Parts: sequence; C-alpha cells; structure tokens
Amino acid sequence: MSAITVQTQPIAGQKPGTSGLRKKTPVFMGPHYLENFIQSIFDVVGAEGKTFVLGGDGRYFNDRAAQVILRMAAANGAARVIVGQGAVLSTPAASHLIRLNKTDGGIIMSASHNPGGPKEDFGVKFNMPNGGPAPEAVTEAMFKRTTEITEYRIVEAQDVDLGTVGRSQLGGMVVDVVDPVSDYAALMESLFDFDKIAAMFAGGFRMRMDSMCAVTGPYAVEILERRLGAAPGTVTHATPLPDFGGMHPDPNPTWAHELMAEMMGPGAPDFGAASDGDGDRNMVVGRGIYVSPSDSLAVLAANAHLAKGYRGGLKGVARSMPTSAASDRVAAALGIASFETPTGWKFFGNLLDAGKATICGEESFGTGSDHVREKDGLWAILLWLNILAVRGESVAEIVQAHWRKFGRNYYSRHDFEAIATDKADAMMAALRASLAGLAGRKLQGMEIAVADDFAYTDPVDGSVSAKQGVRVNFTDGSRIVYRLSGTGTEGATLRVYLERYVAGPEGLDRDAQEALAPVIAAAHELAGIGAHTGKTAPDVVT
Ligand code: G1P
Ligand code: ZN
Repeated sequence: MSAITVQTQPIAGQKPGTSGLRKKTPVFMGPHYLENFIQSIFDVVGAEGKTFVLGGDGRYFNDRAAQVILRMAAANGAARVIVGQGAVLSTPAASHLIRLNKTDGGIIMSASHNPGGPKEDFGVKFNMPNGGPAPEAVTEAMFKRTTEITEYRIVEAQDVDLGTVGRSQLGGMVVDVVDPVSDYAALMESLFDFDKIAAMFAGGFRMRMDSMCAVTGPYAVEILERRLGAAPGTVTHATPLPDFGGMHPDPNPTWAHELMAEMMGPGAPDFGAASDGDGDRNMVVGRGIYVSPSDSLAVLAANAHLAKGYRGGLKGVARSMPTSAASDRVAAALGIASFETPTGWKFFGNLLDAGKATICGEESFGTGSDHVREKDGLWAILLWLNILAVRGESVAEIVQAHWRKFGRNYYSRHDFEAIATDKADAMMAALRASLAGLAGRKLQGMEIAVADDFAYTDPVDGSVSAKQGVRVNFTDGSRIVYRLSGTGTEGATLRVYLERYVAGPEGLDRDAQEALAPVIAAAHELAGIGAHTGKTAPDVVT
C-alpha cells in the first residue's frame, strides 16, 4: 500500500460557511472536489501523528466520502481515526467522541437538515479538539488553502471494512470502527434520571419520536425504546436512508407535518418530538400544543435543575440574537448571566469552554448544553422527558405556567426562499442605509425605539463579528430582525424574525401569527419586502 501525490488545481467556490462546506452532491462528487477540501483541512490543522473522529449522517455519498477521507488521512500521516460503524455518527455523538477520546478534532459529513440524495445536498465540516465547529479564522484559512492547492495525498488501498466494529490498519494508520450509539447513550444516562423517565413510560406515558429517516433513528430506538421502555414503534421513520426517504429532515411544523398532525389530532400521545438529518436539531410538541424553540429554551433553562446532570444549577444561558428574549427573563429570575450571540453554534463554544454558560439555544430548533460542543436534538428531547417525569404535568400545563410566571414572547420566523442574491442584497443594503433615521418612526400603531446592525464582541477572546443582522426594537417591546441565511444552497434566503412580549395575565393564549399581525405588517412595510423580492408571503413559517 503506497501513498501517492495527485496533482490538482484550485476549484472555485470551496468557501465554508457557518456550518462547513455545503454543496450539491454532484459538486462534491466531481473530480478532485472532495479531495481538495479534505487536503486543505489537513494542510491547515496538520495530520501527522494525530487522531481524528470521522462520521456522518448517512446521506447519499457518505460511505464513499468516508473511504476517501480515511485514505487521505492515512497518506497525510494521521495516527488513528475513530469512525462510527457504517461511517455514521450524529453530529452531537461525533462531538462527544472527539471530547471523550481527547482527539485532535473530527470530520463530520452532513448537510444537516437539507435533503440528501444524488441531486440534493452534501457537506463536510471540521470540528476542533473541544468538539465544536471550527472558528472563522480556521475555516478562512481552509478556504484560502483551497485557492492555492496544487496537490493532495491519498493512499491506494481497498476499502476499509466499516461495517464491523473493531480495529484495522490502513497503511500506518489505525482505524477504530466504533458503535455510533453506545458512548452517546452512556453520556445521556449520566445526565438524565433514566429511572424516573422509565417509570413514567411504565405508567402509560405515550410518546411519538419522528427521526425523519435520518441519523437519530438508531439512537432514539436504543435510548427511548430499549433503555427507557417506551413502547416499540414509538420511534417512526427510524431507519436512516441515503435520501431520507425523500423527506426533508428539518424538524419544524412545515416539514415534520406528520408529527404535527398526530399531535394536534384525536388520540394524540402525551409528547412528540422530531430531529433533523444529523441529529443536532429538535422540535418538541405536546398534545395539542406546539412549543416554539425560543420557548423551549426558556422552559428548559427554568427547569434544568430537575435533571441530575444540572442539579447544581446553571452558570448562564446563551441564545442567538434572533432567538426570542424568553430565556433572558429566566436567567434574570435565576440570577444568572444571559448572553446574546450571532447566529451559529460556534459562538456558544467559547462561552461553554469558559464556563460562562451551561445551556444554549437558537430559534432554529437548536438547543444544547456544555455536555458537547454542538446543539443536540436528543439531549433536548430527553431533558423535556426528565422535566415531564419529575413535574408530572403535561407539556401544555408546563408551558402555560411558564407564560403566567414570566410573560409570553410571541414569536415567529418567516423565511423568503430562493430570492435572487442581488435583490436580497439590495434590500438589506437599503435597510442598513435607513437605520440612522428610524428611531421615533411610527408603524402599525407602534413606535421604533432603536434600530441597529447587530455586532458582537466575544466576551472570552474579544473577537468582533459585525453585520450580524438588522434589529428593529419598538417601544412596546416588540422586535423585528432581518438577516440573510448563511447556509442556503440556492440563491438567497431572507429570514424575518418577529417578536412581541405580553406580560399577562391576559392575552397569553392567542395564536402566534394573529398576535404578531401588526409586527408582521410593520416588517413588510419597513423593508419593502414585496417590492424588493417580488414575494409578499413567506415560503416557510416557523
Ligand atoms: C441556520 C440557522 C442557524 C443555525 C444554522 C446551522 O443558519 O438559522 O440558527 O445555527 O442554520 O444549523 P442560517 O441559514 O440562518 O444562516
Ligand atoms: Zn443539523
């Protein structure tokens, strides 16, 4: 077996975004494309003598890409790669293995919640030794490398058997194929009161978990059905498929509509949940009640001490800027710090590493804690179960009691997808140019208090991230945020985040879209969404 050096040349467009490099699968399968990016990763982080974790969400091309990455790791002198059986690892499980084995980082193959298949999306990202996504300086260096690259190294070898757990050798490199679930399940068991949750299931509590034909199927079956005793068949779409069975594995009311229909229908189980392609996102639903991710974060923060892993209390709560302020109110009541970061999980990493925050969340169905350095879908679902088991109340009772205590932040996100990039940019530019004159302007019976373009100074390393989204705050506490997606693969996606606070005790049980109607109208009026984009209604509402 010998390592060869292959001549290559830079390929345009290998710029990783907030979640690594994401492209259409045929692009990744094109000549030298994957290889160039992997070599650029190794050139930046160094591979000689190092140990990495490797796994992905099982989507189309996952298995072939894993073989290429292993051969390149061997040729670049890596000492050892720990790979999930079948080249499968959920993103949070990969983050855990990176940390548990004190490795030098890991490569995760996933395009998260985006559809998979020969014509759909694929992605690769590098996570650091702390288990978290590479920071901007590192991804920028990788990108720079892709613009200069002239050769990559790969060994010529047969495929490694990734179907069987155990150790093998690839050139001078050790390959350890591990069960993707067991270490992760053990971590969950260390954080949550499995005995209490099991007793709840034994008492007749019913749950529906929709794994959306994606990576959490085996994790959810092992943890919920085998270890916690949920009824067999609790987990649906439990077999991961290369094309996710044609599903769009994004756990929100639009894409997880089967789960929504069941939870809102007659005979609904007590609790429903879904997770995304790579298992880091979650949606939770009670019987007859959808829990918005912002509310979920707030409820989890307020009740986390009920689970054994968080009994000592939280150090702080962090949320992304567009996420509602509901969790800030909990932090204030608990007397702990709250943080507002730019969109993207990597900004939480420093806060978690520095012990400033314990729980983090984003409005985009991401919640997690300092147990790993990624958001974690099953973790959130298990924390909810733990809280339900201890409190003995329904989801609706818990959420409504939360609103009565803290008030309610009505919240919704409206996405306008596949807009021509120049039009989206022009709209944002016009909005930014108007910011200075907005204070005092009246819209829909509300008055603008302050408007700005969010900039963040990291409290740990002092780095500054500017232009993170336009915020418009009204005097009555309502808020509109506008930003363009950093993860889309087709044109531009405009995200408009809408929020309105009602202190209660009256007016807490309205439909969110209805309660937000004036804020929605103001958002259209202020930015001229229709005039700029040609779209008067959003494509996805969450
Ligand atoms: C989206 C979400 C963001 C999340 C990211 C990765 O990014 O909005 O909260 O961290 O996916 O899962 P966006 O497309 O908005 O840039
Ligand atoms: Zn994901």
